[in-house]
Amino acid sequence: MEKKVTKIGVMTSGGDSPGMNACIRAVVRTGLYHNLEVFGITRGYAGMIDDDIHQMDSRSVANIIQRGGTILKTARCKEFMNAEGRKKAYENLKKRGINGLIIIGGDGSFKGAQIFSHEFDIPCIGIPGTIDKDIAGTDFTIGFDTAVNTAVEAIDKIRDTADAHDRLFIIEVMGRDAGYIALHSGIGTGAEHILIPEKKTDVEAVLSSLQEKERRKKLVNIVVLAEGDDFGGANHLATVVKERIPGFDVRVAILGHIQRGGAPSSMDRLIASRMGYSAVECLLDGRFNVMVGIMNNKMHYTPLDNAVKAKQKISDEWMKIVKILAS
Ligand code: F6P
Repeated sequence: MEKKVTKIGVMTSGGDSPGMNACIRAVVRTGLYHNLEVFGITRGYAGMIDDDIHQMDSRSVANIIQRGGTILKTARCKEFMNAEGRKKAYENLKKRGINGLIIIGGDGSFKGAQIFSHEFDIPCIGIPGTIDKDIAGTDFTIGFDTAVNTAVEAIDKIRDTADAHDRLFIIEVMGRDAGYIALHSGIGTGAEHILIPEKKTDVEAVLSSLQEKERRKKLVNIVVLAEGDDFGGANHLATVVKERIPGFDVRVAILGHIQRGGAPSSMDRLIASRMGYSAVECLLDGRFNVMVGIMNNKMHYTPLDNAVKAKQKISDEWMKIVKILAS
C-alpha cells in the first residue's frame, strides 16, 4: 500500500520563469490547507544536496504572487546527475520525514525527478515552469505568456524606430532548443520572417523574399529569430544580409534575459496557481510521479517518464500563417 504523504518539499529548478512565485504560493497554501507540513528547498537540487531546506508557513509566501524570479532561488545542478549526489539529497529529505516532492522547472529538472523517483520512495510531481514552452503534455508552461508579452512590447518599440528610419531589424529572442517565443512574439508583432530551431532555416529563401520586398520598396522589415536557430544567431544573419542586400539598413537587437524577468502576466499567475494546487492534490490522491499540465483548459497528467521524452511539435501551418500575413 502507498504511504500517506504528510510532509512535502517544494523547489524551483533550472532557468527561472515569471510565475514561479505564484506557484510556490499555491503549493504552500494548498499543502497547509490539507494540514501538511511544507518545506522550501533553496536552489533546487543543489539545496537538496546541501541541506538548504526550511519549513514554510502561510506568511512566508505573502506578497509574492506578483513578483518575478523565485523566492526559493534556482540552479542547474550537475551533482544531482550522479548517484552519490542523489543519495545525499534523499537523506536530507528523509531525516525531516519529507515524503512528497514538487519540482517546478523544465525538462532538465524533470529528468532529475524521474531518476530520483525510480531510485527512492519519495513520489515526485513536476510542474512545467519555463519561458520556452518546450514541454509536451501541457498547452502552456509557467512564464511563457509573460516572456512573449515582454518580447512583444520590446519588438513594438523597435518597430517604431525601424519605421522612422526605414530599417530592417533582426531581433533575437530566447529559446535555445525551442521556437515558441519567437513564433508567438513574431506573429504578434507582424514579423516578416520567423526563424526557429524546429525548422531548418533556408537562408536563400529568406534573402530572396527580402530582395523582393526591397524591390517593392518595403523597407521596414522585422525578422524574429530564436537564439537556437540553426543558421547561427542574429549577428551572423545580419552580416549575410548586409553583404547580399546592401540596399537594406540593417540593425540587430538581442532581447536576452529581460524575457525571463518581470511581473508575471495574469495568465501565468492563473496557470501557476492551478498547477500548484493540483500538484498537491496529486500527492494526496496517490497520483504519483506525474507532470501536472493544462490541456484544453483542463488539468492533464503526464507520467514523468513520458514528460522527459516527448517534445512539442510545431506544425507547418504556423509557418504558412507567418508567410501569408507578412506579404
Ligand atoms: O530555458 C530558458 C532559457 O531562458 C532559454 O531560453 C535560454 O537559452 C537559457 O534559458 C539561458 O540560460 P542561462 O540563463 O543559464 O544563460
